[in-house]
Amino acid sequence: MDKLRIVGRKRLTGSVTIGGAKNAALPAMAASLLTNEPITLTNVPDVWDVGTMRRLLLRLGTHVVQPSLDEITLTTARLASDEAPYELVKTMRASVLVLGPLLARNGRARVSLPGGCAIGARPINEHIRGLEMLGAKVSLEHGFIDAKTEGLSGATIRFGTVSVGGTENLMMAACLARGETVLENCAREPEIEDLAELLARMGASIEGAGTERIRVHGVDRLHGARHRIVPDRIEAGTYLIAGALMGDDVRITECRPSHLGALTDILDRIGVSLVIGEDSLSVRAADDDLVSIEVETAPYPLFPTDMQAQLMALLTQARGTSRLSETIFENRFMHASELARLGARIELRGNRAIVHGPTPLAGTNVMATDLRASASLVLAGLVAEGETLIDRVYHLDRGYEHIEEKMAGLGAEVERFA
Ligand code: UD1
Repeated sequence: MDKLRIVGRKRLTGSVTIGGAKNAALPAMAASLLTNEPITLTNVPDVWDVGTMRRLLLRLGTHVVQPSLDEITLTTARLASDEAPYELVKTMRASVLVLGPLLARNGRARVSLPGGCAIGARPINEHIRGLEMLGAKVSLEHGFIDAKTEGLSGATIRFGTVSVGGTENLMMAACLARGETVLENCAREPEIEDLAELLARMGASIEGAGTERIRVHGVDRLHGARHRIVPDRIEAGTYLIAGALMGDDVRITECRPSHLGALTDILDRIGVSLVIGEDSLSVRAADDDLVSIEVETAPYPLFPTDMQAQLMALLTQARGTSRLSETIFENRFMHASELARLGARIELRGNRAIVHGPTPLAGTNVMATDLRASASLVLAGLVAEGETLIDRVYHLDRGYEHIEEKMAGLGAEVERFA
């Protein structure tokens, strides 16, 4: 199993280029199942989850051509299977995104239940209820969601919980449903807008993606398209925090700062110096101490749960008592005890982490427990005195492309070894 060795306290300078968003690439790849024509995606990030989705599509009969690391053409002339097996779904929950497209195209889909996940229960009841309202018969048997339909029909569906994957699954299914579908209380993440852009290029008729109400007018068929994946706001945010911790002058390029408003607001309030451009950000570590803050995670456009762990690493360096409340996932503080091994002073009280700072961190062995938790350990390693060894780096590889190269490009001392 790969590990990362980081020698901390190296100043960071220069620029880092942000890749395409993992969380936009995965639904876009699933959407390719909606047509028998080629879908070409560019700016695809070179991360493991994309590899897992590619393997799933291959199983389903998709022909995959990948002329370069960041481009992929997916053609599903004919479906070879309608089943997403356990061994793929268990490694990546986002596999459930094939449910809507398979059902809409094929009238049948079997997707293994994702099961528990390190960061919480993560149910998919909203996906299932929505598909039923579109006219699917759904049963849960032998650990599989088995969905069938004679043909989907539009409906008005109000989500009980704001769900990114649920919004995406239903938006995709509704594209091939008869008549109009109205989705209410939708997630508003930029990745949903990006998916809607791709679907529109494929011939779908969608209004309101990015707002809480999405209207889809079903069409008989969708066609091939080419689409560039939106930049990864979480990757950009992670490098922003690296720059806030150790940057002399770090420039983050090819990103969309407008998607990072909740984070840049907080960084500004705690005293990080930032320059926000059209498609770039510049950041340097503050000369004075940062100040503590209270932050709560919430659906977009509020502060993302996917940045909570990285922000916690930064708040260990802020003067005073910071409070971080996690409202989206119930078990997403596993990085707190690992950060404590590096010297952080963090108390956990239910869904709230109380961070006392500033504390000097000192390198030691730590364990990555999930994707974003791993990123927070890398960030802590950058600011810690001496050597930090991070085990189970595969969590990081699921969602960050070439992280050691990108960090090293900024002047960090980071090395991967087996
Ligand atoms: C997506 C992101 C993930 C991010 C999360 C929240 C992808 C591939 N993953 O995950 O990185 O952390 O959004 O921003 O885009 N819920 C239900 N019932 C459902 C569905 C969800 O109760 O049917 C709950 C979940 O348990 C959770 C909350 O809703 O508490 C948000 O989950 P959701 O937005 O669905 O997350 P994902 O789409 O799985």
